[in-house]
Amino acid sequence: MHAGGLMAVNFQKAQFLLAAHALRQLPPPSVPDIAFAGRSNVGKSSLINRLTSHANLVKTSSKPGKTRSLNYFSLDEALYLVDLPGYGFAQVSQETRKSWQTLISAYVEQRQTLACVVVILDLRHELKALDRDLVDWLRFHQKEYLPVYTKADKLSRNAQERHAAILDAGLTVTARDRILFSAKTGQGCEELRARLAAYAAPALQASPVRLQGGEESSLQ
Ligand code: GTP
Ligand code: MG
Repeated sequence: MHAGGLMAVNFQKAQFLLAAHALRQLPPPSVPDIAFAGRSNVGKSSLINRLTSHANLVKTSSKPGKTRSLNYFSLDEALYLVDLPGYGFAQVSQETRKSWQTLISAYVEQRQTLACVVVILDLRHELKALDRDLVDWLRFHQKEYLPVYTKADKLSRNAQERHAAILDAGLTVTARDRILFSAKTGQGCEELRARLAAYAAPALQASPVRLQGGEESSLQ
């Protein structure tokens, strides 16, 4: 049961749609995009797999730099999940890095249906300049974002709170604004689902009845 009249999104109904290497390859903007951004190897793909309860919807790797395109997944016909290439990976050429950066910036600035960027950070690590830059840049463009601190399973509960407070201060957010997460244990997963479901396509939340004359009635 869902409070507040929100449509329940079935997070298990996820499937791979396409890999875009240029903006013209993006799917039609029929439902809102939720994009997942973060440093290379931070756990973006693992988070999407946990979120959708699929072991292997997205390829994960201990070798950084695996995701090289904007990988689109459709979720219950209500949202697109977009796995973005990781940043800050030293082993790629300057040229490759630049082309990813151009693609991601153009995507964030131009995709009208981008509803939220999930900014993923490693709870164990201190905030890096590139992470801070990303958040500053999202704020500058007035894009909604949701910080998620992942790999929480690698720390004790005490250390989790301590590290999270440091990241909060670095990003200037409060504990209410972010989620502690683990792809391994599922910690924070329900909270993340609830936050993302709120962005689901309104068309699915309250389908208006289409009358013969083309007028709409919301069945009051
Ligand atoms: P790129 O696509 O290369 O940018 O990496 P990514 O951000 O998609 O990371 P990915 O999900 O491939 O995970 C990188 C490594 O971290 C893998 O070895 C994962 O198993 C591991 N990992 C990811 N999330 C977690 C987590 O919550 N806990 C633990 N213990 N390991 C994790
Ligand atoms: Mg990945």
